[in-house]
Amino acid sequence: MSSAPLAPAEVAVIGGTGFYAFLDDPSEHVVDTPYGAPSAPVSVGTVAGRSVAFLPRHGPHHDFPPHAINYRANLWALRSLGVRQVLAPCAVGGLGATVAPGDVVVPDQLVDRTHRRVGSYVEQGACHLPFADPYCAQLGAAVVAAGGPLAPRSGGTMVVIEGPRFSTRAESQYYAAQGWDLINMTGAPEAALAREMRQCYTPIALVTDMDAGAESGEGVGQEEVFARFRANLEGLTRLLEDTIARLPDPEGCSCSTWADGVELTYEVPGLV
Ligand code: ADE
Repeated sequence: MSSAPLAPAEVAVIGGTGFYAFLDDPSEHVVDTPYGAPSAPVSVGTVAGRSVAFLPRHGPHHDFPPHAINYRANLWALRSLGVRQVLAPCAVGGLGATVAPGDVVVPDQLVDRTHRRVGSYVEQGACHLPFADPYCAQLGAAVVAAGGPLAPRSGGTMVVIEGPRFSTRAESQYYAAQGWDLINMTGAPEAALAREMRQCYTPIALVTDMDAGAESGEGVGQEEVFARFRANLEGLTRLLEDTIARLPDPEGCSCSTWADGVELTYEVPGLV
């Protein structure tokens, strides 16, 4: 284990602990941030010739439930290593007939229903980021183009709930009635913080279950979610590798340029 100076990384994967193995020649880095400790030391290694950072969102031993993750420290730590593109595999429930367990979806919209998380680096002044399109379309297109056995497809709205409990049937039916497709507990504020860090960000959502309100659903259990994720780890790992091999150049992407000319009232590490 080492502390600063840190190995630079261009790309990051924030995901479950099972992804450690996909980095070649990894080294671990303890990163100190103004927001406290990230979920774990950051592993930096090589994938498809690129320098890639890996951070287990819930900690190395699933220590942090969704509402207790230090999202600000996580994104700041990655940015301090140089990361400008973030791939975020996550488990999601399906809300209706547009999706089925086992599907991999790159959503294009987000509804944030969390309510007790710190969702911004902005603590003073006027600094409002554009977020109409919360995810990087170019990164999402790279995931879909990578294809492979999981056949990722794009489009759909993901609602993020506070958790850690799953939804009631009535809540779930309400979300589905809004036309939302996917439900999860970690997608916010992660995406907004990445935007504030001027990073390209895309979720890669694996449908692990049908949520409580879905007709075919009998109510969700944790074991179902974990088991489906485990069963798809190999496929997701391959998808990440194939995506990293074809990542677009982040230079000039609006995920970063939104802040040109805006007076940021917080520090983006590595930017002058
Ligand atoms: N993550 C995976 N499945 C979920 C569900 N049904 N609700 C919320 N988060 C989830």
